[in-house]
Parts: sequence; C-alpha cells; structure tokens
Amino acid sequence: MPRIERAGSHYRFLVDGQPFLMLGGQAHNSSASRAEDLEPFWKSLVGIHANTAEVPLYWELIEPQQGKFDFHLIDEIVAGARRNGLRLVFLWFATWKNGDMDYTPEWLKRDPSTYRHVKDAWGREMWIISPLCEAAREADARAFRAVMEHIRSIDESDRTVIMVQVENETGLLGTDRDYSEQATRLYRGSVPAELMTYLSKNRDNLSASFKAAWAGTNFRGSGTWTEVFGDLAAEAFSAWHVARYVDAAAAAGKQAYPLPMYVNNWLVEGSAARAGNWPSGGPTAHVLDIWKAAAPHIDVLAPDIYYPKFFDVAAQYTRPDNPLFVPETNPLPYFAANALLTFAYFNGFGFSPFGVDDLVENGTVTPRAAELEDVYRMLRPLLPLIARYQYTGKLHPLLQGIAQGEEWAYAVRLGNKLAASVEFTAKYDPEKGRGCGLIMEMGPDDFVVAGSGFKVNFRELEGPLRDAQVLTIEEGTFEGERWVPARRLNGDELNVELPERSRILRVRLLR
Ligand code: DGJ
Repeated sequence: MPRIERAGSHYRFLVDGQPFLMLGGQAHNSSASRAEDLEPFWKSLVGIHANTAEVPLYWELIEPQQGKFDFHLIDEIVAGARRNGLRLVFLWFATWKNGDMDYTPEWLKRDPSTYRHVKDAWGREMWIISPLCEAAREADARAFRAVMEHIRSIDESDRTVIMVQVENETGLLGTDRDYSEQATRLYRGSVPAELMTYLSKNRDNLSASFKAAWAGTNFRGSGTWTEVFGDLAAEAFSAWHVARYVDAAAAAGKQAYPLPMYVNNWLVEGSAARAGNWPSGGPTAHVLDIWKAAAPHIDVLAPDIYYPKFFDVAAQYTRPDNPLFVPETNPLPYFAANALLTFAYFNGFGFSPFGVDDLVENGTVTPRAAELEDVYRMLRPLLPLIARYQYTGKLHPLLQGIAQGEEWAYAVRLGNKLAASVEFTAKYDPEKGRGCGLIMEMGPDDFVVAGSGFKVNFRELEGPLRDAQVLTIEEGTFEGERWVPARRLNGDELNVELPERSRILRVRLLR
C-alpha cells in the first residue's frame, strides 16, 4: 500500500515500498467528465516527464441519483494513466470546491431543507453546504466510501492510484462562519475540550499566527470561541467544523481503502483581509493546528501556491507534524524551479503545476512549457538519490533570484570545508524562467551538479585562499543510484558550466 511513513519529524511517501517523489501535473477542472478529453493531458504529462497525474472525480457525475453510482470514469481514467505509465492522484470534488458547493449532485442541490446551507451574517442562505449539516456529511462520506471501494476493487494489485485529495479548497467563501441558528448556538458555547487539550499539548509547535491570536487571550484554556481565540474565533470555529466534516469523509474512505489522503488549501493572499475573503475554515496557515486536531485521517495539509512568495508559504506548511506537498502551483515558467525547493530544501514529496492539459501540441512541448520540461527531465533520473539524501543536509537547490539581490550570484556552503560559488548565466526573466539546479554531496570531494543557467566554482574554506582543484568532470545520468557516465569533459570543457538546457555533471575535486 502507498503510505506516508513518519520518523520523528521526517517523512517519506512510500509507493511499492520505495520513497516516491512526485513530479506531477493537474488537469483543468472540466477535463475529466469524458475520458477522451484527457488525451492531451496524458500527452502533456508524458512530454514533460511527469510521473503522476492529478485528476478530479466529480460527486455530481459519480452519484447522479442518490444511491446510484456510476464509476465508469474512474475505470477509464485509471486505464488512461496506466497506458501512459503514470501514477494517479484522484481529487474528490464534492461538498467543497473553492469554498462553495458547485460539485454536489443535483438531487442534493435541489433539497436545501435536507442539505442545509450556510447562512451569512444577514441571515441569507449561501451557496455552501453547512459544515454542521449531518445529512450532507453522511451523504458525502457514503459516496466517498463507495469511490474508495471501487478504486480498491480495480486497482489494489496495480496501485496506479497512490493518493487521494479529499474535497477541494474547503472553507466558506464570503462569510467568516455559518450564522445559522444552530451554528450561532455552538459558537456561543464552549470550545470543545478535545481541541483545547490538543492545543495545550502542542503549544510549542503552533503556527505563528495562531499562536499570536491565542496569546492575545493569554492562552486561555477554556471558554467560548471568542473568549479563547479573540479575533481568530470565527475562522477557528469554521476550521474545526469543516475539518470534522472532511475527516468523516476521509475516515469512511480509508475504511474502504486506506490510501494516503490530503486536503489542499486556498491561501491567505492578495488583497484578502479577513476570513471569508479567503474560504474561512480551510487549512490556512492560521488554523493548521485546528485541522491537525480535528482531522486525524488527513495525512497532509497542502498549500496551493500560485504566488511568487513560494518559499514563505512552503515554510509555513513544512512542520514536524506535516510534510510539504504542493498539489497545485502556477504552470508559468518562473515557477518550475520551485520543484527544486520543494524536494531539495523542504524535503517535500510532491510538486504539481495546475492546468497542464495543453503543454504538448502536435507532439512538441510548447515554448511556455520548456522550463518545466527541462526541470522535470533533469530531476527524473535523480529522484531515487534525492529521496535518499533528503533531511541529510547534502542537497542544495540553486535558484536564480531565490531572494532579492540573489539574481546573479551567491555562495552555498557545503561540507568538508568547501563552498560552491554559483554564478547565474541565464537571463533573469520572470516571464521566461530562470537558472536553477542543485548540488548533491555524494562524498567529501564528489558532487553531482545538475541544472541549467549557471556555473560553479568550488572554493576551499580553509588554508590559503584558493579554488579547489577539479580532478574530473563527467556528463551522465543515473540508473537508480548507479552513475552512468557519458562524455568526459576536459581541456576547454574542464569547467562546471551548465548552459541553457539542463544536464547532469559528476564533479570530483582533488584536495
Ligand atoms: C485552485 C483550485 O483548487 C483549482 O481547482 C482551480 O480552480 C484553480 N484554483 C484555478 O486557478
């Protein structure tokens, strides 16, 4: 079974018993209502050397009449992935999709008295199922369970499907909480003791914004939501109830087939000022801890990162209780380099640009996908080694412009009293991409340098000021963990230079 293994604060995503790093891509929202529409998507993923496809499953099409399930799309999508040698992550678009209820089945949409909606602060019914509605929660969990049972029945021995996203960007868009009578009664009542116990136990590891809010009430240990969480009360309340709802679906699904499960998240970003400007109650950085307490069946809380401040967001979601997985990111060239940060800096296990259905046209990778194709092609043979070296300090991602002022050069400290002086030779153009790569320390004087758009000088950090003597440079690749050399570089080419198209070099130094 695919699973996420935890040892202390280190995580590995295991598929077929081996650490798996996901070079992913997600289909557009409407690409999976007919299997044939996925053809360009499969071609694009194969063309860019991805190893995993993220594809939505729509509750409205899977259970068109209550209790009558139609799984033909699941079968066809799994077959398509297998034909193309890809693993699959299914996305359960159900009660929540981007903070509303668009993907619920028609029978549910037509029956708001049974499947109750959220009310806003003026008492108006919103286009969002109330996280307190038991009938909806049970219906969603029942359908999700049936989906997982079906996946197990067709895929347990092949394991094409390796992980499942439960819902999509949960939370309440347009209100900070449900203002229905039932919700308001609960909101005025006490914070559940179970949550308070969890928070007290984990007080040292809480997210900064959550801790700040709770500190504002002097870490009050009980009371109403407002008494305990102050300004964060409404978002905290929504998070608790949304997470409980989602956890019920995940628990039912795992009972049928316990694949790893995660939730994705609409970030606090842009001009958004208050919960409700972003879907309130989704796993934002403010309420990650509440999600951890409320949703034990969810293995990973995962950010959808569409904005340039990738590093900061990735840092918020990389925690001792949560590994980094980026299930959606911007498909623009500039973002491709963030795959290196994900795997080689944050020790994450997956990276997946959104809407990659048309990256290959007439059998050719389009110019706008060139950067992603280049990064994935370079990373693909390195994945087993990267997985092995995660958490060891021996992986060093190189990104042009990772911080302001670092567009042209910076030095990276390595082991064995060495530093790598990196000079970027690529044109720094956020529209077109940037130089990027990585250095892996294979031994004290033995390095893999991979990527494009930069050159490296190894400098000794002790003794007289000098650069280290390069002994050999080979081009090549890896098969598993075995180095397969190609050209030996010497003479005019005895330089650690990686021009426009990515390549992998093995560099040995003489000390
Ligand atoms: C984030 C959502 O999760 C996706 O399904 C899609 O709607 C994208 N936004 C569009 O940018």
